[in-house]
Amino acid sequence: MTRAFSGIQPTGDIHIGNYFGAIQNWVELGRRLGKQALFCIVDYHAITIPYRAEELADRTFEAALVNLAAGLDPAQTTLFVQSSVPAHTELTWILLTQTPLGDLERMTQFKDKSGQHSVLTGLLAYPALMAADILLYRADTIPVGEDQDQHLELTREVARRFNFLYGETFPEPRALHTEKALRVPGTDGQSKMSKSKGNTIGVLESPGQIAQKLRLTPTDPARVRRSDPGDPGRCTIYTYHQLFSTDATVQMVNWECRRAGIGCSDCKALLLRGIERELTPLQQRAAELRRQPDQVHQALEQGRREAAALAEPTLEEVRSRIGLYGAKRTSSGLQ
Ligand code: TYM
Repeated sequence: MTRAFSGIQPTGDIHIGNYFGAIQNWVELGRRLGKQALFCIVDYHAITIPYRAEELADRTFEAALVNLAAGLDPAQTTLFVQSSVPAHTELTWILLTQTPLGDLERMTQFKDKSGQHSVLTGLLAYPALMAADILLYRADTIPVGEDQDQHLELTREVARRFNFLYGETFPEPRALHTEKALRVPGTDGQSKMSKSKGNTIGVLESPGQIAQKLRLTPTDPARVRRSDPGDPGRCTIYTYHQLFSTDATVQMVNWECRRAGIGCSDCKALLLRGIERELTPLQQRAAELRRQPDQVHQALEQGRREAAALAEPTLEEVRSRIGLYGAKRTSSGLQ
């Protein structure tokens, strides 16, 4: 049986890297798998770096709203908040006790982030919480961007070790990538689009705000004058065209760039049209949901109940397998 699980942190605004790298796949999987597709706003992950407590609940709501606006249907799939299902933290503790320190220390995201912030042990434990998210539902299909591959490899190791020590309990989950958006580049043209780098295009940003960012986005560095032919393969704007524009436009800008038929600002204007076409309907649905916040709260409450019902039996089995007193009493019928 296939069960999909994925998560997104409620830190910063959801950007087009999240959208193309993960959320679009979630919507698609939700349609295919129905209630076998679970999506989670991972607020306990978000507090592993310094954050503002007074903003966390609003950001969590906002992340749910964007997912619903992007097309996730709560009647069909399960969308919930991580902290609303306490089984996540309980399984995390159990898995942490079984995870070698070195495995956590070698995670590249830990190394990157620990260079930017003072290191809280929660940041080190982050991948164990992610493993718990996935294993709690015995999910085997994990729609994520490429940046999560190392965490998934660790999840498989955690599952293998647990199965070896305590008996077959968890399937080994695999990443599901969107081929055209493995790693969406940031507007700085330097690195992956990332909330922490300030190089994002938010899915709720206005065309004016996006145009402003695109104006500053570097294109092929070798194309200095309008008359210089360009190489689309070295241009961030072209990468965005491949996400937003029609095939005909993508082919046209590729050809015209190479023969200096269009300039970079024409090319950016064409891109903006594609962006507006893709994001306007999402933004309209987001505005509607904002007027009916109860719809979002209800979806999350229903999701919480559905997720908890799936998580509890797994946690019971785990408790029993690792030999906890309460679980033994229940399974042997002792009072
Ligand atoms: P987060 O919140 O950083 O990102 C959410 C999703 O967006 C993808 N993504 C990208 N994809 C392509 N290009 C980009 N520039 C880009 N930036 C972000 C991420 O790969 C991710 O799929 N640790 C996870 C959250 C998590 C999780 C889980 C995921 C917690 N538990 C269990 C899967 C399963 C994270 O920080 O995602």
